[in-house]
Amino acid sequence: MEKLVIEGGRELRGEIRISGAKNAALPLIAASLLAKGVHVLHNVPDLRDTRTILRLLESLGVSWERQDDTLRIDATDLNYSEASYELVKTMRASVLVLGPLLARLGQARVSLPGGCAIGARPIDFHILGFEQLGVTCRLENGYVDAEIDGRLQGNTVYFDLPSVTGTENLLMAATLAQGTTVIKNAAREPEIGNLVDMLTAMGAEIEGRDTDRLTIHGVEQLQAAESAVIPDRIETGTYLIAVAATGGEATLTHCNPGHLPALLEKLRATGVEISAHEQSLTIRASCDQPLRAVDIKTMPYPGYPTDLQAQFMALMTLSDQSAVVNETIFENRFMHVAELKRMGADIRVDGRTAFVTGLGRDGLTGAPVMATDLRASSSLVIAGLAAAGRTDISRIYHLERGYENLVDKLTGLGARVWKEQE
Ligand code: EPU
Repeated sequence: MEKLVIEGGRELRGEIRISGAKNAALPLIAASLLAKGVHVLHNVPDLRDTRTILRLLESLGVSWERQDDTLRIDATDLNYSEASYELVKTMRASVLVLGPLLARLGQARVSLPGGCAIGARPIDFHILGFEQLGVTCRLENGYVDAEIDGRLQGNTVYFDLPSVTGTENLLMAATLAQGTTVIKNAAREPEIGNLVDMLTAMGAEIEGRDTDRLTIHGVEQLQAAESAVIPDRIETGTYLIAVAATGGEATLTHCNPGHLPALLEKLRATGVEISAHEQSLTIRASCDQPLRAVDIKTMPYPGYPTDLQAQFMALMTLSDQSAVVNETIFENRFMHVAELKRMGADIRVDGRTAFVTGLGRDGLTGAPVMATDLRASSSLVIAGLAAAGRTDISRIYHLERGYENLVDKLTGLGARVWKEQE
């Protein structure tokens, strides 16, 4: 297994290009199952998770080819309807094939994802939603067996919480339903807008993009189309926080500053300078200036994203005062705390709240630490870049699930970082 080694304490300076968003690419790839023909997707990041969903598509009979960041997916043959435990256990977003399979084949067998490092993460909203569209769902041997005789039937579906993949799954299924489906309390993350655009290009009729109420008028058939994955707002946010932590000046290109309203406010409040342009961001952070402590509370979009909570907590360990980090989306998303403490951080956790006592910009020291999930791992990278001395991060396959060319991009910014065999 490989580990990541970081010699910390260097400012980050330079320019990097932001990749396409993992969490937008996954539903777009799943949506290609809805129509025969060759779909063309641009700006698709080459990540462990995008490879996993492509393996899943292959197991369903679908073929694909990649040239640079463009994927061509031929979903004409869709011969199987099962997503196996082997695939779903490595990536819970595999459940995104459930909606398209039901819409196109009238049946699907998908392994239940089970728990994961950040919480129980059930898929009950997805199942309840499909049942409201007329699907019969049985849970057997760890699998959801779902089927419907004929077409899905449009209906009104209300989510207790605005689930991101729940909204995406229902949205995809409803495009081919008979009649109109209304999703109330739908999630509003930009990745859903990206999916709405792809489905619309395929011939779907959807109203309410970017709102919490999506209305889908079902059509009989969709066609393959050409789409582009939006920039990764979480990757963008991670690099911004990294520069705030180390000091320096960096420009991130090919990103969408409009997708990071909460983070930009919070980062500016720490005292760093950020200028936003249409498709790029420049951040300037002086090492001589102390970081102000800023509280965050994770919320569904446009609130502060849970996927940037761990990274911001790492930054707050370097402030001069105390900050409160409140995680409202997932019940167990503080796995990074124990590892940050190994680097000297002073953090106390009480339930879903973490109290961070900042130790100043020189507060962290390098240490061997372990990555536990994707975003926890990126907070350790940020801590390692800011810490004095060497940090060894093991289990970096977590990072490879969601950060394209991490080592090259950080090296491009002047970091001393490399991979080694454990
Ligand atoms: N929930 C349920 N039942 C459901 C679905 C969700 O109780 O059927 C709960 C969850 O347990 C959680 C809340 O609803 O408390 C919101 O979860 P959501 O369904 O929105 O999460 P998700 O769709 O499984 C996506 C991202 C996550 C991101 C969350 C929240 C993808 C592929 N994954 O997950 O991304 O943290 O939304 O924004 O889009 C990551 O990239 O590292 C990552 C974990």
